[in-house]
Amino acid sequence: MKIKTIEEIKDLKGKKVLLRVDFNVPMRDGEIQDDTRITQSLDTINYLKDKGASIIIMSHMGRPKGQVVEELRLTKIAKYLSDLIKTPVKKMDTVLDNEVKKEVESMKEGEIIMLENTRFRPEEKECDPDFTKELASLGDIFVSDAFSAAHRKHASTTGIADHLPAYAGFLMQKEIEALSPIVEEEPIRPLTLIFGGAKVDTKIGVIKNFIDKADYFLIGGALANTFLAAAGYDVGDSLYEKDKVETAREIMLSCEKNRERFIIPHDVVVADEISENAETAHLPIEDVTGDMKILDIGKWTAEKFNNIIEKSGTVIWNGPLGLYEHTPFQNGTKLVASSLARHNCNSIIGGGDTADALKRINVPAEAYTHISTGGGACLEFLSGAKLPGIEILKW
Ligand code: 3PG
Repeated sequence: MKIKTIEEIKDLKGKKVLLRVDFNVPMRDGEIQDDTRITQSLDTINYLKDKGASIIIMSHMGRPKGQVVEELRLTKIAKYLSDLIKTPVKKMDTVLDNEVKKEVESMKEGEIIMLENTRFRPEEKECDPDFTKELASLGDIFVSDAFSAAHRKHASTTGIADHLPAYAGFLMQKEIEALSPIVEEEPIRPLTLIFGGAKVDTKIGVIKNFIDKADYFLIGGALANTFLAAAGYDVGDSLYEKDKVETAREIMLSCEKNRERFIIPHDVVVADEISENAETAHLPIEDVTGDMKILDIGKWTAEKFNNIIEKSGTVIWNGPLGLYEHTPFQNGTKLVASSLARHNCNSIIGGGDTADALKRINVPAEAYTHISTGGGACLEFLSGAKLPGIEILKW
């Protein structure tokens, strides 16, 4: 895939660069839990700064649905970035207004401004043409390092490219280079997909895309609860998506001929409450009932996953297999992470939460072939879909 890259920009000195990053990092109690998406964009930011550009950083955070949500402001992120690069980052309180325009107009070489969470404006997700044009008018060049948001066709991820020359930053370039061989060449088989986490909507669509390509699907996390419900199990008081149960059933039916291909948990860890001191029980799935919450895969399921990993040539893993933020529910993710780290195969890890989980359980990043900053974007890319945020960067 041939894309336009930041190093191809002839003269950056004195230019205003609109830089789209994805600083949608995991946060808890207002604190950044994993800064990978920020640190991975530093090469691009430093390059632009050193070349004398002034940088207007844009990012989303969470899903505020077009409204201002105080906890989703980017103030902490701007301060964090400023400390990392030892350069002031002026954080604006809005996405786009006269104040922002005035501030941008007076920017000098090497100066950095961060706009407020782009999703505070409803026009962002609608890719509204007037908003997009006005946003683009802030800069001379558009650089995108937001690989993890490249599956979204929003004003700040794709729309701006209708008005400005668009280039990939170093992170975007690195992700595309690492993941392209999986799509463009025949993967080393068996190809195993491990899916977990809570974001069911994106994953169910991607699983469908992979049905004819992957050899094994190993399902855990909250995602598994929807499949367990579809298979007719009582999931007690567990988190699952009722409106996706039918799709989950169709997916399992399409693997019916070879049931060993699509594995959902047959034992689980349950608790009545989510806390560090929660009392847990390890149960076969048939015994889940009442107000029990399924919060991790059980050890027999982890063992089964392990056996499949050991014979796989390529493993793509997206989403933790339990509520890893709490120690009592980390075991499944831990067992699978170490099994994958030990096994010598092509291992691609995707998703901010998965990367965060690996850090917490102390598995070194070098143990895997590539850890992507993308969650849904990584999966869609690997399933062969064209991502709008990458299409705009092609020659
Ligand atoms: C992600 O975390 O996967 C990206 O930031 C995209 O977020 P979204 O799923 O809310 O669009």
